[in-house]
Amino acid sequence: MKHGLDTSQDIRQQIWKELGRGCVDRHHAWRTPVLATVGFDGLPNVRTVVLRKVDTNQQTLCFYTDARSAKVSELTKQPKAVLAFWSARLNWQLRVKVAISVATEGPEMQVHWQRVQQSASAGDYMANEAPGTERSTGFSTSPTLSGDHHFALLNAQVLQMDWLELGQGGHRRARLSADTWQWLIP
Ligand SMILES: Cc1cc2nc3c(=O)[nH]c(=O)nc-3n(C[C@H](O)[C@H](O)[C@H](O)COP(=O)(O)O)c2cc1C
Repeated sequence: MKHGLDTSQDIRQQIWKELGRGCVDRHHAWRTPVLATVGFDGLPNVRTVVLRKVDTNQQTLCFYTDARSAKVSELTKQPKAVLAFWSARLNWQLRVKVAISVATEGPEMQVHWQRVQQSASAGDYMANEAPGTERSTGFSTSPTLSGDHHFALLNAQVLQMDWLELGQGGHRRARLSADTWQWLIP
């Protein structure tokens, strides 16, 4: 069988291993999942985000964003969200239901911001104007940077996963939470 992953324990372990790789390996497809939130119009809102940290013991996934972005307002109203990961190498889709808390202050956020501040992407969180602000031209200009930052840490607590494996000889699917496993018809 593919990967030699026969038991639910093997698969569960491999899922977390791949997530762990996703946040350290730039080329791993799971580095850039799609995050779906509930928009103010009641429709889903989706966007790509970068997986920044994975804590297997706590079952948490961490992301960075601008505190003024739409996703943050949406998460403040409805903290539950879904992440979708796809890897063509693994032939795995993983959909993860999460409860997200937004940190714009506090020691954990500070640790991450200290690191980002020294990197080339610091400017992404220091623009004067909020993401999504309308402007008159499509040309890219350097944003006016303010002294303040708008860095926010998204901490996603995993509630449930839906794992799907596409295989030549047949597909496999399961729904799992921290202490449950249910095989499903794909
Ligand atoms: C490959 C890729 C990675 C991205 N990573 C992030 C990210 O880690 N955090 C983030 O806030 N936006 C990221 N973005 C931009 C978002 O997809 C989105 O356009 C932006 O955050 C505004 O989303 P919102 O208005 O729904 O909040 C990324 C976009 C791409 C294409």
